[in-house]
Amino acid sequence: MSLSKSKPKSKASPSAAAALTESAPSPSSVQDASTQDAPLDVTQAHHEGDITPDELSFVHDAVLLQETVAAVLGVKSLPKQTDDNTHAGLQMSGVYVDATFGRGGHSRLLLSQLADDAQLIVFDKDPTAISVAQELASTDSRVKVVHDSFATLTDSLAAMGIVQVDGLMADLGISSPQIDDGSRGFSFMRDGAVDMRMDTSRGQSVAEWLMKVDDETLANVLYDFGEERHSRRIARAIKQMESYESTLELAEVIKVAHPNWQRGKHPATQSFQAMRIFINNELGDVDAFLEQSIPILKSGGQLAVISFHSLEDRRIKQFLQRHSKGQYPEDEKLPMPPNRPRYFSKPKRVGPNKAETSQNPRSRSAWLRMATRTDTDYEQATV
Ligand SMILES: C[S@@+](CC[C@H](N)C(=O)[O-])C[C@H]1O[C@@H](n2cnc3c(N)ncnc32)[C@H](O)[C@@H]1O
Repeated sequence: MSLSKSKPKSKASPSAAAALTESAPSPSSVQDASTQDAPLDVTQAHHEGDITPDELSFVHDAVLLQETVAAVLGVKSLPKQTDDNTHAGLQMSGVYVDATFGRGGHSRLLLSQLADDAQLIVFDKDPTAISVAQELASTDSRVKVVHDSFATLTDSLAAMGIVQVDGLMADLGISSPQIDDGSRGFSFMRDGAVDMRMDTSRGQSVAEWLMKVDDETLANVLYDFGEERHSRRIARAIKQMESYESTLELAEVIKVAHPNWQRGKHPATQSFQAMRIFINNELGDVDAFLEQSIPILKSGGQLAVISFHSLEDRRIKQFLQRHSKGQYPEDEKLPMPPNRPRYFSKPKRVGPNKAETSQNPRSRSAWLRMATRTDTDYEQATV
């Protein structure tokens, strides 16, 4: 679903999907891939509290939209919307969480299915996403906004007097607007500061981290979070740079150092992904969120999580296997817990259909995993 706001006309850039899937035309034209795109006109450094109308209007196409909202409500499908908008939706009561508001595609559809007495708590780390969420909250009193990581789920909800919820959804990773805005530093195709923080109000940027990190730690990050096989060589090249002021310069250095370009993929793809995941503690946050979903969800409550790469998807899959079937991965170093409570029903997995992947190529790598919380009481001591 696109938001009603239109894309700024001046941004003659390849689609956000292309940047997110980080495709480049071919190995022979890879030389041009990182520079083919003229810098956008929103290239000024991102100052906190200084959000331009352009930033607010970058568009994000919500992935697996109907499926995710149906999943979090615990229904097979949503009623068809009528053209004249007279359908009142499902009118579900309860408390729901959108852990990754973005531009609110999933939240808005969910709200259309909620009753007046329902509540929707939305989280995002990103100040621009939070501005959009606050705008929505100002016109819909069911919406409450948390500018923080979803890793703070329990504490943030407790601060609002909420102990348990009926549904939790998360659409992990970064949004198209974050990629489209070169000044955020996520893209190797648009120039900007080497920042990559989702939350620009706290923490260190990738540039600040690169100034301090040693070669070996950097190589490990590139390998662990980007599965980059040439991590050592690339880390050495990055550490030989004098400064880290431009994403295009950084991408160029990685490209030159990378010995094995793959067709249709920019050589900096995995390194950029790795640094982004590291600087935002993305995997740690996902683990914390999943663990907290057990006590936070009511019996019969729904968990629905969309992921876009295997590092995340594997975690979600293994978490649900552990807590639905009592299955632990073989390489798990932890001792088996004496009892293996089944906190979730048999999980389900859904991917996008052909229509969605052709309309929104970014959805190609998406998986939605969902499960229902059982009535098994949560035991604090279990793994
Ligand atoms: C894929 S987008 C979500 C798009 C959203 N579903 C929509 O329809 O517009 C992911 C969003 O999650 C946010 N995010 C990622 N990790 C987060 C975390 N640990 N805590 C809070 N927000 C996070 C990002 O800033 C981004 O805005």
